[in-house]
Amino acid sequence: MEKIKVNDINLTYDRRGKGSPLVLLHGFPLDHHLWDEVAPLLEDTFDLIIPDLRGFGESETIDTTYVMEDYASDIAGLLDQLGIQKTAIAGHSMGGYVALAFAGRYPERVSGLALISSQAPADSPERKEGRYKSAEDVAEHGINSVVEMMTPKFTVEPHLQAQTREIMEKQSSAAYIGALKAMAERADSTPLLSTFDFPVVIIHGDADALIPVDRGREVRDAIPGSLYIELEGVGHVPMLEAAKETADALKRLA
Ligand code: MLT
Repeated sequence: MEKIKVNDINLTYDRRGKGSPLVLLHGFPLDHHLWDEVAPLLEDTFDLIIPDLRGFGESETIDTTYVMEDYASDIAGLLDQLGIQKTAIAGHSMGGYVALAFAGRYPERVSGLALISSQAPADSPERKEGRYKSAEDVAEHGINSVVEMMTPKFTVEPHLQAQTREIMEKQSSAAYIGALKAMAERADSTPLLSTFDFPVVIIHGDADALIPVDRGREVRDAIPGSLYIELEGVGHVPMLEAAKETADALKRLA
């Protein structure tokens, strides 16, 4: 892992492979290890940049409030320092919200976008309230209840549940709290979708228990010409449950 200082935060990232650049953004509450199965399948095609978003993995935790655009600004600062002006960007779930924020703020820097198990709308009022309750619960009691709630929803595969649980358990309470609030406050990206003038790939499992497959179909319908891959029997983590299909779809951004 490489280390770099961006926006006054020490960020870590993995860089591997050869080809056109592709940034892979993990979801909540995970880190770059989410991509461990898919990265080897992509490194002959892409210059892969795989960061730990602020607070997660080995990136520095900061104890303040931030929003999706701050995660996006971290990625822009990282790319600046790597001398990469334009890139494809793929986000998983919350990483998709960051990718959308990046595309909204820096459209000229995007050569292609992939949303994996993600969605465009903002939270409903009830969901938003639930996020703040979870953030309070994590502040008082730690991450355990979120880990317990999310583990069975990632996938039905026991060994992959164990794999995602192991990643989730390593993250700090501050990372959970910061991300829960950032997700609660995120804007509706739906109006943005029709402005995209680069290739868009949408990957969604039809058995996703965290973000229903209808959210993926909505993005497909909003972007004529997008490539939509719906994976039968796959849950919230296609990069683990269907690594080859996920990698093949991402290669369309090369
Ligand atoms: C994620 O997997 O990143 C989160 O479940 C997304 C969300 O809660 O909206």
